[in-house]
Amino acid sequence: MNNFQFYTPTKVVFGKDTEGQVGELVKEQNCSKVLVHFGSGSVKRSGLLDRVYASLDAAGVSYVSLGGAVPNPRLSLVYEGIELCKKEGVDFILAVGGGSAIDSAKAIGYGVKYDGDVWDLYLKKEAPKAMLPLGVILTIAATGSEMSNSSVITNEEGWLKRGLNSDLSRPQFAILNPELTYTLPEYQTMSGCTDILMHTMERYFSHEMDTDLVDGMAESLLRSVMRAAKVLLKDPKNYNARAEILWAGSLSHNGLTGCGRVGDWACHQLEHELGGMFDVAHGAGLAAVWGSWARYVYKENVARFAKFAVNVMGVAYDYADPEKTVLEGIEAMENFFRSIHMPVNIRELGVELNDKQIEELAYKCSFMDQRTIGGMKKLAREDIARIYEMAR
Ligand code: NZQ
Ligand code: ZN
Repeated sequence: MNNFQFYTPTKVVFGKDTEGQVGELVKEQNCSKVLVHFGSGSVKRSGLLDRVYASLDAAGVSYVSLGGAVPNPRLSLVYEGIELCKKEGVDFILAVGGGSAIDSAKAIGYGVKYDGDVWDLYLKKEAPKAMLPLGVILTIAATGSEMSNSSVITNEEGWLKRGLNSDLSRPQFAILNPELTYTLPEYQTMSGCTDILMHTMERYFSHEMDTDLVDGMAESLLRSVMRAAKVLLKDPKNYNARAEILWAGSLSHNGLTGCGRVGDWACHQLEHELGGMFDVAHGAGLAAVWGSWARYVYKENVARFAKFAVNVMGVAYDYADPEKTVLEGIEAMENFFRSIHMPVNIRELGVELNDKQIEELAYKCSFMDQRTIGGMKKLAREDIARIYEMAR
């Protein structure tokens, strides 16, 4: 097991009606003015935003609000949020919504505390030194941004989607009420389940083999999410299944299932380019590339892929031919994605890639030929292009 740090400062308030506590939770932060930041309107339509305002009013907290964060949240709204916060003297942000509203809020928080252009932080020209504190009311089980150190922003100039990781961006509190996720369309629920699975799989596919406890937690999380996703296909308002995936989403990306090992993360990098260029749902984009990535890299560590096949996908181990076990495991995972109506290639994602676009995606994903991606196998620009080709 490798050395590691595990830092998870977020207070989680989980369960029915918990959003009613938001006023008091914000008040505990001793802030003078709050920015309430949200997406394109689901929180208005559901009545959640009105309940949030009522709770803030009851606690005597003053606030301004800014909606409009879209999936693959845009830099232009982040700039608008930074200006608003500076003008209004905002010193705490409350994100109400999904990963996109939360990530947009994180970027605004960085920008308020940074003298230069916040995009430079996402280009890694400089490391962030401060961020406005943040609280979250989550409405979709997916990214884990409510406990993670990440935020991902898309710059409309050049359609580049870039992530920034810093412990500064771990929220102070996260309110998780499974009932708030009942209104999600099936596609978003399943895309979210896929993202949750992938956050644990990106960590699971590692060359470090002596992580028995963490492997067991990861495998159990994966099986629980797959089981709950199947329940939700038939019964979208099943409270317990909603609760399982909501909690799994947070644990899948707060670092727990990565303790003691270096993860892979190639699929996330492959998806981020797709999301930036074609504006696809993040989880669906991951499902579209995973099988091709797995077939391209599995020979680097057959034992690890076989462990996944047996312990997660229930494949029988073939002692005479472990690679057969691996390939059956990959196929079983793809079949699972199909069963929850997720794409298993880029065409099914709704994008017809031509050769020129594959080259462009690979060029951008390799940061203009300046980096490799992936922990299982280091993937340079040509490898990345091959995987997009396999997945198209
Ligand atoms: O914008 P609204 O109107 O709220 O609609 C959203 C959006 O259309 C809707 N929605 C959310 N909750 C709902 C709801 N509709 C009805 N009822 C509800 N309860 O669902 C759509 C998707 O929302 P979004 O916030 O975009 O989804 P998600 O949470 O999957 O976030 C995706 C973004 O997060 C990034 C992704 O790349 C993508 O940009 N990620 C962030 C990470 C992080 N910060 O740690 C890690 C991830 O790997 C990921 O990259
Ligand atoms: Zn993700």
